[in-house]
Amino acid sequence: MHTLEALARDASALANGETVLSAPETEVARQMQICNACRYCEGFCAVFPAMTRRLEFGKADIHFLANLCHNCGACLHACQYAPPHEFAVNVPQAMAQVRGQTYVDYAWPPALGGLYQRQGLTLSLALAAGLALFLVLAVVLNGQGLGALWSAPGGSFYDLFPHNLLVGLFAPVFLFATLALALGVRRFWRDLTPATSGAPLSAPATAEAADAVLRLKYLDGGHGEGCHNEDDAYTLSRRRFHHLTFYGFILCFAATSVATLYHYLLGQPAPYDLPSLPKLLGAVGGVSLALGTAGLWRLNLRRHPLLGDAAQKPMDRGFIALLFLTATSGLVLWLARGTPALALTLCLHLGAVMALFATLPYGKFGHGIFRTAALLRHAVEKRLPNPVGLGAD
Ligand code: HEM
Ligand code: HEM
Ligand code: SF4
Ligand code: SF4
Repeated sequence: MHTLEALARDASALANGETVLSAPETEVARQMQICNACRYCEGFCAVFPAMTRRLEFGKADIHFLANLCHNCGACLHACQYAPPHEFAVNVPQAMAQVRGQTYVDYAWPPALGGLYQRQGLTLSLALAAGLALFLVLAVVLNGQGLGALWSAPGGSFYDLFPHNLLVGLFAPVFLFATLALALGVRRFWRDLTPATSGAPLSAPATAEAADAVLRLKYLDGGHGEGCHNEDDAYTLSRRRFHHLTFYGFILCFAATSVATLYHYLLGQPAPYDLPSLPKLLGAVGGVSLALGTAGLWRLNLRRHPLLGDAAQKPMDRGFIALLFLTATSGLVLWLARGTPALALTLCLHLGAVMALFATLPYGKFGHGIFRTAALLRHAVEKRLPNPVGLGAD
């Protein structure tokens, strides 16, 4: 907590145009000074080589390093200064706290950032349930009575919700989420660029960062055997379940986009059957996303409490739960086609999809975008001579 003296110092720093560090940022700066003297973990990930290029850690440097960290836990398990040592060095936890703060600070519009982070799991599920209920009511009112909810309407989703109504419901939410994410990451990029040499992106730097993102390189522990979860054993399961989640999400998204093209360009409305492209993408993506999120959920419940920030658990779990609900309700919807369960399942799937998109800019989804930005800036910066002249680069 701030003392009067610290508040007076902050006020005078603000008046001089300097940037005041928050408590989590100050903690990262403290730990980075210790690590810069020790450097035992230099080969573990991108954070330590980036750290050796700096003697001082300003706000933008700290945001950059926090989003470069992949929370693999290797440096916590290797550290001779970790708790209970009096230096209390816990880099993954300190970085996670700042990362959580960057999601809030860069959220657009700013007022919504903090709200979601405090209530992730409850808010996500309540929103999905609320939206599904709203759609259920629409079916009941439109179909003249409760019977409309449990009858086989001949297999077309559009008998329940006309195509244009679906577009009218989803397009604004999707466009808003894209805009909010783009504005957030643009501000983050603008703050990071001067702190990471200011040099522009090059093709080799972009290729290197893309490789790190697509292979999730920094969850390999630096030696290929994996990262940590509940203890000091290495595990590749976090990386594998993340791959299932990440690629599953992309395939589901591709399925929805290809289905839109089928609808407008080929004049073929849903539903589609195997082996059509939208169905193949949706089926493989859905199974992959459901398995990936189930695995990440299990790992998240068992994660060592020192690894990460307990305050962000609800946000992490809310995101995992919504992804799982979206994938499984989509798959059940496929099976429910032609059965009386179609209407309820469609309402549940659409409620989950809508809640997922509405909350994308205000929580865990930001981690992928901010990490990608940090990896791109790191790949640019590491190609230049080390300004400190002591590093391993
Ligand atoms: C605009 C938003 C979306 C709408 C209107 C929508 C609607 C639908 C419909 C009508 C089906 C049934 C298709 C069939 O039985 O042939 C379906 C299936 C499915 N949806 Fe969605 N969905 C949307 C977004 C998403 C998203 C973002 C995901 C996952 C991240 C997803 C995952 C799935 C899965 C896994 C299936 C089952 C596999 C398949 O039928 O292709 N959906 N969706
Ligand atoms: C775009 C590049 C991405 C990168 C570099 C990335 C990286 C990571 C890393 C390192 C973690 C573990 C540490 C942490 O929890 O912060 C993680 C967690 C997670 N990621 Fe990603 N991710 C990306 C995109 C995505 C996407 C697109 C999705 C799904 C839509 C996703 C879903 C998740 C989930 C659900 C977790 C939570 C696991 C947990 O809390 O236990 N990620 N990601
Ligand atoms: S985390 Fe610990 S062992 Fe690793 S560089 Fe920092 S102080 Fe050294
Ligand atoms: S937790 Fe892993 S990724 Fe983060 S700083 Fe430590 S070694 Fe690097």
